[in-house]
Amino acid sequence: MRYITFALAKGRLAIKTLEVLEKVGITCEEIKDKKSRKLIFVNEELKLKFFLAKASDVPTYVEYGAADIGVVGKDTILEEGRRIYEVLDIGFGACKMCVAGPADAKKYLNNGSLIRVATKYPNIAKDYFYNNKHQTVEIIKLNGSIELAPIVGLSEVIVDIVETGATLRENGLEILEEICDLSARVVVNEVSMKIEHDRISKIIKDLGEILK
Ligand code: PRP
Repeated sequence: MRYITFALAKGRLAIKTLEVLEKVGITCEEIKDKKSRKLIFVNEELKLKFFLAKASDVPTYVEYGAADIGVVGKDTILEEGRRIYEVLDIGFGACKMCVAGPADAKKYLNNGSLIRVATKYPNIAKDYFYNNKHQTVEIIKLNGSIELAPIVGLSEVIVDIVETGATLRENGLEILEEICDLSARVVVNEVSMKIEHDRISKIIKDLGEILK
């Protein structure tokens, strides 16, 4: 039997994912050892492997078949645009992708202005403004603390994740438009889905049932 390999997005999501996997009998003792510097963990009995990767790399590992199954946020899936199957919404980390900014920036979204949009998600922002709103904008890629951009005058609005809304509120910004709902998803390599159909389908089905 060949190994089925899981790529998990490092951090809180991986910890929660491992808890759910354990409930459906998919366990990996090795990965729980926090002191370990190992990158790949094996369950020989079940013929499973696991590795932790940077979230934005998970769709890449899955597209190329280096991992059969991945668990990663919908934001990353949309931004990376990889050829992978998205098979299950596991609900964790529910939040929204939004256009946000100071309340008076709303006017720029209705009159087709050539505005600057700061974001960690240039592909999502481009797709939303160009294909949905048919508005030409300048996308400015940032790597974090996106809310700073309209405050210091780098951009008129931002495209970013809003979870509780606290970061926006505490910085005098608000949601101007909602782009889409986000949460963690299970993704599968297209070829693995065919050659390991029975084992992978069972994992997805078991996960789906436990999450109900
Ligand atoms: C995310 C996101 C917002 C914040 C939203 O940032 O980019 O800044 O969380 O959460 P809230 O609505 O509950 O306030 P993250 O903490 O991941 O760090 P980053 O700013 O470096 O992207």
